[in-house]
Amino acid sequence: MAERSVGSSNSIGFLSWKSLIALLSLALTVFMLSWSLMLNTRGRSQFIDQNLYPHLKHYNPPLIDHEQDATLKVFMYDLPSEFHFELLYWKPDGSAHWPDIRSNVPEYPGGLNVQHSVAYWLTLDLLASDFNNAGGQNVVRVHNSSEADVIFVPFFSSICFNRFSRLNPHQETNKNKELQQKLVKYLTSQPEWQRSGGIDHVIAAHHPNSLLDARMQLWPAMFILSDFGRYPPTIANINKDVIAPYKHIIKSYVNDSSGFDSRPILLFFQGAIYRKDGGFVRQEIFYILKKEKDVHFTFGSVQKQGVPSATKGMQTSKFCLNIAGDTPSSNRLFDAIASHCVPVIISDDIELPFEDVLDYSEFCIFIRTSDALKDKFLINFIRNISKAEWTQKWEKLKEVEHFFEYQYPSKKNDAVQMIWRSVVKKVPVIKRRLHASRRFSRFEKPASKSVFPLPRNLIS
Ligand SMILES: *[C@@H]1O[C@H](CO)[C@@H](O)[C@H](O)[C@H]1NC(C)=O
Ligand SMILES: *[C@@H]1O[C@H](CO)[C@@H](O)[C@H](O)[C@H]1NC(C)=O
Ligand SMILES: *[C@@H]1O[C@H](CO)[C@@H](O)[C@H](O)[C@H]1NC(C)=O
Repeated sequence: MAERSVGSSNSIGFLSWKSLIALLSLALTVFMLSWSLMLNTRGRSQFIDQNLYPHLKHYNPPLIDHEQDATLKVFMYDLPSEFHFELLYWKPDGSAHWPDIRSNVPEYPGGLNVQHSVAYWLTLDLLASDFNNAGGQNVVRVHNSSEADVIFVPFFSSICFNRFSRLNPHQETNKNKELQQKLVKYLTSQPEWQRSGGIDHVIAAHHPNSLLDARMQLWPAMFILSDFGRYPPTIANINKDVIAPYKHIIKSYVNDSSGFDSRPILLFFQGAIYRKDGGFVRQEIFYILKKEKDVHFTFGSVQKQGVPSATKGMQTSKFCLNIAGDTPSSNRLFDAIASHCVPVIISDDIELPFEDVLDYSEFCIFIRTSDALKDKFLINFIRNISKAEWTQKWEKLKEVEHFFEYQYPSKKNDAVQMIWRSVVKKVPVIKRRLHASRRFSRFEKPASKSVFPLPRNLIS
């Protein structure tokens, strides 16, 4: 022992030199490695030649023929009413799951809650399909699930979140969580879920915080969402899910005879400011714009007393700002459309409903966040838009506003029918995912237990 320690003390200098050199060369290797990796990714992106990327400015493909819509066959679960109309304080009569909508249509609560009411309108539309042989509808309710293209889950998840997500101090959990757990239990025990693993199921979760718990288990299903802001791409993505509009809070501008010159405010924004996540952009833009006389910028949500002032503001403004808040989307865009106030969208990650049919650049202005944050860029850009161009966009807004209208009974090409149409287009995707999930089915447990393949580029 002693000898050794003597020996080592003798070679201390030598050893530390050695370890120093080893350390240095290790650091050098790590540095070189990361450098080469960086070069590699740079090299790869350089390899993508952007020069041939089309400039689509002047390309106007023919409009899609809406007459050729396929009809979607939907099976709707008879979920207990606590999952749907009871959340609207409807009381079931005897053993009936559903209100008789021929005599009484339960109302959705007003205020801000209504913006996420998509599940309600879709359910009403399906119920109506039983009595209504008006024809020309995009959806038919079938009562035999084997005949269905998709299985609809009539859970009003958004109003459930609105009403029951607050934690009762005396309880460990809340009704919002409980209902989600119940839903998972209910669904996973249904033969329809078990045969497909949920892949052909459609669930609306329009409020960004709705279905927060159950989404982690029900993700094989198709979701109807407002955006993907709070979802990991493995749970929700544009490949399998559908983006639906918010229901606008501001009333439609009927008989709008205003014009460029009769709308005195150039640019209008009303919204909450100090928000989390992307919210800082609003604040920055406020500082950039606050000295402009014809810009109206107020903070405060559009609820309660805010609605009349926002209505007046949007109907007397040429342009309405939509800046990403704590999520990329907001109902403000749809309020602007209903007011025929040309939307100026500053939200790089926004997803837009029905974009396969609608070219939003025809009636909106998109500005990259990095540009909008440059001094004077935004205001110069807006001021420079001619009366002729604005009027074109205003006319187009009046042409497309019906796409964003939720109503019962649904009407041709309104939001309800457009959503079904978007679902119809996903049916081949469902089929492909179903078939792919069966590749190794002979080796595995039944579908409900197996893991479904995700697109490889989405596995992170
Ligand atoms: C449901 O449809 C399938 C396929 O069309 C059929 O085989 C089955 O008998 C139907 N079930 C009922 C209860 O009608
Ligand atoms: C809009 O104009 C039509 C036709 O002139 C009229 O019948 C209708 O009452 C007007 N609606 C409103 C809300 O002003
Ligand atoms: C204003 O518009 C004209 C013509 O469209 C264009 O040439 C010019 O670059 C624009 N200026 C700004 C500041 O956007």
